Amino acid sequence: MQKFIITGGKSLRGELALQGSKNSSLPIMAAALLCCGECTLHCCPKLTDVYAASRILNCVGCRCTFSDNMAVIDSQVVDRTQISEELMREMRSSIIFMGAMLGRTGECAVSVPGGCELGPRPIDMHLAALKKMGVDITESGGSIVCKAVCGRAKGAKISLAFPSVGATENVILCAVTADGETVINNAAREPEICDLCGFLRSCGADIKGDGESRIVIKGKKQLHGCEYTIMPDRIAAATYLSMVAAAHGELILTNACVLETEPFLSVLEQTGCSIYTSENKIYLRSGPRLRAVRERIRTMPHPGFPTDAQAVLMAALAVADGTSIFEENIFDCRYRHTEALIKMGADIQVLGKVAVVKGVERLHGANVQATDLRGGAAMIIAALCADGTSEISRICHIDRGYEKIEEAVRLLGGDMRRV
Ligand code: EPU
Repeated sequence: MQKFIITGGKSLRGELALQGSKNSSLPIMAAALLCCGECTLHCCPKLTDVYAASRILNCVGCRCTFSDNMAVIDSQVVDRTQISEELMREMRSSIIFMGAMLGRTGECAVSVPGGCELGPRPIDMHLAALKKMGVDITESGGSIVCKAVCGRAKGAKISLAFPSVGATENVILCAVTADGETVINNAAREPEICDLCGFLRSCGADIKGDGESRIVIKGKKQLHGCEYTIMPDRIAAATYLSMVAAAHGELILTNACVLETEPFLSVLEQTGCSIYTSENKIYLRSGPRLRAVRERIRTMPHPGFPTDAQAVLMAALAVADGTSIFEENIFDCRYRHTEALIKMGADIQVLGKVAVVKGVERLHGANVQATDLRGGAAMIIAALCADGTSEISRICHIDRGYEKIEEAVRLLGGDMRRV
């Protein structure tokens, strides 16, 4: 079991090039299944979740290979329709292979991805939408068997009860090769949805309205391979910006997606940091102490404040001057990192969906366990601005989403080792 050992107290300074987005790479890799040919993905981050997606592709007959940050997926042959429970359980987002497999073969047998660190995470909206598209779904004992009644899914009008990212992706993946037109109302508007649609359009798909609440897709019989560059990771951006903000330093982020990071930047700016942006760069300089954020930080679907940035900003605000209040509106169980931050000296009270963070002067090092991906990143940030040394275990959660995070921290002058 690997651990991170971090000695805090150093100010961080330097330039980082952002990794490609995890939450774009996964649906785009699933989408590559739909193209009867070869897809080359640039800026594909080297993450355990990405490798899990490649194992799923290989298990259904594709060939997925990596060379540094380039993934090549050959989906000429897809000759299996079952994804084993073991592979499905490796990551929650394996569920998006359901829509892609249906789009490619008209059938699939998968298993429920199960609950995860963030709470129960049901897939009721995914299943209801696919049923509306003429897919017969049988669920028993955790397995889900799907078959398009007419051999090919059919276009439908789908209205999502909530703009779920995963459900929107599954419907898009199934609809691009379905028979007829699909309209998704109340679709998720996250930038990663636009990236997925951008990729699919490069493969010949007909999609309009991504980035808005109403997406219209005209099904095509077949898609072709393409070469595509994955968008930068806006949550990794939020993580490194929160880190340097808390550690009193200066950061230039290159390969950044400025517009897509704006909902986070507009809140971070309220802490008193100087932030400047240009086309694909974000510059941040933080003073001796951050200010608390006066307005309540409510996580909301995009373009609201992203739930994935809640924990990392909380770690920074744990040492700010004054009290900040968070309201988590997306997941039921997304404050599990607070226990570790409290162990490091933070003053945080959680009351249901609200967390009250009273900034303290200093944190101190402690031995803590990563509870989930973003919660683990929050612990790294807290450890970097704490007095003394911290040990973070269960870092497999962190490796799911951050490429070589310890190297990035060392590049900025931080003291962090993997053992
Ligand atoms: N939900 C349902 N029923 C459904 C689908 C979702 O009740 O059928 C609920 C979920 O339980 C949750 C809420 O709706 O409470 C939002 O879930 P959503 O489907 O939007 O999230 P997701 O697709 O499972 C993606 C990201 C998450 C990110 C969320 C919200 C990927 C691989 N994952 O999850 O990223 O937090 O959207 O933006 O894209 C992360 O990167 O750390 C991460 C968890």
